[in-house]
Amino acid sequence: MDNRPIGVFDSGLGGLTAVRQLRQVLPGEDIVYFGDTGRVPYGSRGRETIIQYARQDIGFLLSRDVKFIVAACGTVSSTYPPAESSHLPVPFTGVVGATARCAAAATRNGRIGVIGTQATIRSGSYQAVLRQLVPGVQLFAKACPLFVPLVENGYVNDGNPVTKLVIADYLTELRGTGIDTLILGCTHYPLLQKMIGEFMGPDVTLIDPGKSTANALDDALSALELKSSRTEGGSVQFYVSDSTEGFAEQEALFLGKYGGGPVEQISIEQYNWPPVDGGPNKQGKTNG
Ligand code: DGL
Repeated sequence: MDNRPIGVFDSGLGGLTAVRQLRQVLPGEDIVYFGDTGRVPYGSRGRETIIQYARQDIGFLLSRDVKFIVAACGTVSSTYPPAESSHLPVPFTGVVGATARCAAAATRNGRIGVIGTQATIRSGSYQAVLRQLVPGVQLFAKACPLFVPLVENGYVNDGNPVTKLVIADYLTELRGTGIDTLILGCTHYPLLQKMIGEFMGPDVTLIDPGKSTANALDDALSALELKSSRTEGGSVQFYVSDSTEGFAEQEALFLGKYGGGPVEQISIEQYNWPPVDGGPNKQGKTNG
């Protein structure tokens, strides 16, 4: 048993789709969420920048004494090196492994589509896991960089004409490939799930990375004996790197009835993992 919080982070608010699933699957767990709203999007940036941002995000969460870190971000999950994550002082997971396993279990014809940010698709992360899991798998990948800004700006209402147009532009080719499973490889995309589902048609199963990862985390916490002693009443503390103004509305959009919790702005640049001399992690505390 371990009653410390789970640390969850994303480049922005997309990771809240994972928090929503975590709250449903693990209602007794406390969660500390960091959304790097001042630097979103990550997905159009270079590898080194994404890794540097991830080190800072992880450094911040470690300063909050979390027991497990979840990179609820397809981009970080695809870029942050396993050689680093395996040396963190607490267990770490991204979203790629669990999501790919769900897609492998869902496909009937071995034709799987993957959509994500430019960095995620460029990394080939989902594709590499799927090739191991599904012999002879046929993969169709597409970067959809405009989806993140659309979601961050609230263009998610059903039938939104701008979003519909962008969905059609990105996904028309994919729809013609005969895929029966589509990985929503970025945690922002589940907010567009209904519209994407309508465009792709009823024969295509959409895989939500937050849902897949929440279920996998439940298993991992049990296996590591890290579950909270509570089975309900878990809290969420939110941190962002930009203004907190308007956060409540966004939070409601992403979390639905699983929302709630105070939000605080922090200065993310001062954190790092491994800690830099004199940084807040080194002192084991934060001024955030
Ligand atoms: N939610 C992030 C992901 O899953 C968004 C990436 C971005 O900031 O571009 O990839």
